[in-house]
Amino acid sequence: MTLNILFVSSEITPFAKTGGLGDVGSALPRALSSLGHKVTAVLPRYGSIPKKALENTHRQITVALGGESITAGIFKGALDDKTDVLFIDQPELFGNRPNPYGDDKGDYPDNDRRFIFFNRAVIELAKSLSNAPDILHCNDWQCGLAPLYLKLERERGNLQKTASVFTIHNLAYQGHFPKKSFRLTGLPKSFLKMNGGVLHHGKLAALKSGILFAGAVTTVSPTYARETILPELGFGLEGFLEKRGGSFCGILNGIDTDEWNPEKDPLIPQNYSAKNLAGKAACRKELLKRFELEDNLARPVIGMVSRLIEQKGFDIIEAAADDLLKLDFSLVVLGAGQKEYETFLRKLAKEHPGRVGAEIGYDNALSHLVEAGADIFLMPSRFEPCGLNQMYSLRYGTPPIVRATGGLNDTVTDWNPATGEGNGFVFEKPSPDEMLEAVDRAVATFGKQDEWRKIIRNGMNADLSWQASAREYTALYHSLL
Ligand code: ADP
Ligand code: GLC
Repeated sequence: MTLNILFVSSEITPFAKTGGLGDVGSALPRALSSLGHKVTAVLPRYGSIPKKALENTHRQITVALGGESITAGIFKGALDDKTDVLFIDQPELFGNRPNPYGDDKGDYPDNDRRFIFFNRAVIELAKSLSNAPDILHCNDWQCGLAPLYLKLERERGNLQKTASVFTIHNLAYQGHFPKKSFRLTGLPKSFLKMNGGVLHHGKLAALKSGILFAGAVTTVSPTYARETILPELGFGLEGFLEKRGGSFCGILNGIDTDEWNPEKDPLIPQNYSAKNLAGKAACRKELLKRFELEDNLARPVIGMVSRLIEQKGFDIIEAAADDLLKLDFSLVVLGAGQKEYETFLRKLAKEHPGRVGAEIGYDNALSHLVEAGADIFLMPSRFEPCGLNQMYSLRYGTPPIVRATGGLNDTVTDWNPATGEGNGFVFEKPSPDEMLEAVDRAVATFGKQDEWRKIIRNGMNADLSWQASAREYTALYHSLL
């Protein structure tokens, strides 16, 4: 049976993206559509999304927010010819702000108001549709309250056939707001509590609400699902996740194999395939030129594209830097984030001209060039719910070095020269020594042409598409109906 799915996310590429959520918010709805489901994605219309590219549906939604009545328009766009996107257009809360969550000064101070409104608008939207959704699929804290609003609507006799799924992309971001923000939610007072309510340690907690009240909860890899029910990576929510038992599971993300395809990618200087890697050498040349690095064929180029935050293991790299640079490789890093890591990378590039290049900023085209032009990709994450870049690098013939955590553990297998199996290099503990050992192994293996080609092929020939995961989501949806 094909399903009617309302897929809600605060990021959907190409309209809005700050990280992997944007990629998933775009690719998963399309993968579900390709299985025959009728999928409509929902996103706030941020200021960066020009209205003139969208169709005005002339429909409106009104929500009471803390005694005030706020109205939004609904605009329509599309991800492909089968997948519509509905944009909640509210100028004061979203339209007049260029970014999803904040600016140079930090998070917008009224994110509570903005996203409480978004969650309530989504429910009003669902109620207004001529064909009510079978599934309301919400992602991350930004949509964490919607499953509770849905539950309450159902108790009132509305949206009777709609079930909810809540997907956690990162437990480190929980959407905590002062207790007084509860007033904006319009929820019954009985939910103003820790046990069975939306409070967590005295704060209004949006992610926790999704975990408690959705019909089913998923996260983006099986390993992360196992890790998050333990205190080390549960960020205080492990108990709630464990309580969900069989209704909490990990479904591995896929990648958009059209956008990330070395055979067709228009953002790289020359295309290539697993059978003919000649174009990869041209990409490498271009990458080295762009970062003003020496062109030395015997010296592998290690690439990184990442938000510069502790999650991604930059503190481990910083601690290992001196020893790391005793090994023979070049390093290119594209990223932006915490100032301390930006400063560290700029300094490293300055101290090692011709060998280390750092571009601080966000640049989609350059991220494709790094994936294609580097020989090795480095992702030493302390934790990683799924991770997409290691999959992009597998597809681009750029074997990844990763720490065995979350989705990295589910997608990268350690190279075993004896069996010819493995698509990258894996280390266990988040320590400088273990990372060094893995980098050393990768650099040494790069020198062995036959082995290296086999590793590349193992990565490039794997199926990283969304097909299998979209089927898993479908099975989960059906189990809720
Ligand atoms: P996360 O969502 O935790 O940042 P993922 O690996 O899931 O990690 O996804 C990151 C996404 O953001 C990838 O598509 C990656 O290419 C992109 N990205 C991250 N930093 C940059 C950057 N500085 N420039 C361009 N793209 C970036
Ligand atoms: C989060 C995670 C990342 C994951 C992405 C998409 O940003 O940090 O690991 O790949 O969401 O699910």
